[in-house]
Amino acid sequence: MPLGEAMIPIEDRGFQFADGVYEVIVAYEGQPFLLDEHLARLQRSADGIVLGLNCSSLNLEGIIQEGIQRSGYDDVLVYVQITRGVTSRQHAVTTELTPSVVLTFKRKPIYEPQLRTEGVSLETTADIRWSHCSIKSIALLANIMIKNAAKHRGFFDAIILTDENEVLETSCANVFVIREGVLQTPPASDRILHGITRGFLLDVARKEGIANEECAVDLEMLLKSQEVFITSSSIDIFPVRSVDGITIGDGKPGPITRRLLSSFPKLK
Ligand code: PDD
Repeated sequence: MPLGEAMIPIEDRGFQFADGVYEVIVAYEGQPFLLDEHLARLQRSADGIVLGLNCSSLNLEGIIQEGIQRSGYDDVLVYVQITRGVTSRQHAVTTELTPSVVLTFKRKPIYEPQLRTEGVSLETTADIRWSHCSIKSIALLANIMIKNAAKHRGFFDAIILTDENEVLETSCANVFVIREGVLQTPPASDRILHGITRGFLLDVARKEGIANEECAVDLEMLLKSQEVFITSSSIDIFPVRSVDGITIGDGKPGPITRRLLSSFPKLK
């Protein structure tokens, strides 16, 4: 069908989480170039995000051949995208989904000849991929992989650590600890999402005279905390009873966690 008429449900995980993989394949004079290599990489990418899909079951070679012919172009850019499928939005995948497979066929772009005859100019940059966690981006594939791996191992979620074992956040929530009566949470840097719930709870703590601090929290400190909880708009507060199998405090929601829980309208 014409590209502009193709539709995909808005609850496709590709649209909502960038939870998918793709290939771009060129065809010269109707013949796909390096097709086996592209399809092998597609399978590796699918395996990399644990899609559970055997790409050879899709007969992509046949579809690609037919698409190239039907496009009517000599030199074609074939785009293949496979997402985990369509389901109600939540990070963890709890049901078996049917992957969404989309192929588009476009005329291979014709670039200005000077780009080849004269070459192009480049600059250098730091590797910022993906180091802007404070942007609430829909590119959540890494978060999805963390959440699904944690679920698979029987945990609710995982605390993401820096190389120096500093606590950042979980795949989809901020982390708080309570040490000697002081509520602590990692600072609002580019390494975490500046959670609205996090900000609200810091305000509540200030208003209610609960000592609080935005400071680096390392894993060792967290494991020795009396209380740990996680926050987000969808969960409000979930107390944490253990991390890596180590019990936090006495393994039950602590007094400050319970007090803060009562500041949410419906939990009063
Ligand atoms: N996620 N950190 C990450 C990575 C998050 O995705 C979220 C929220 C939070 C908490 O932010 P807030 O308090 O503003 O909800 C922290 C939402 C709930 C989601 O993606 O479903």
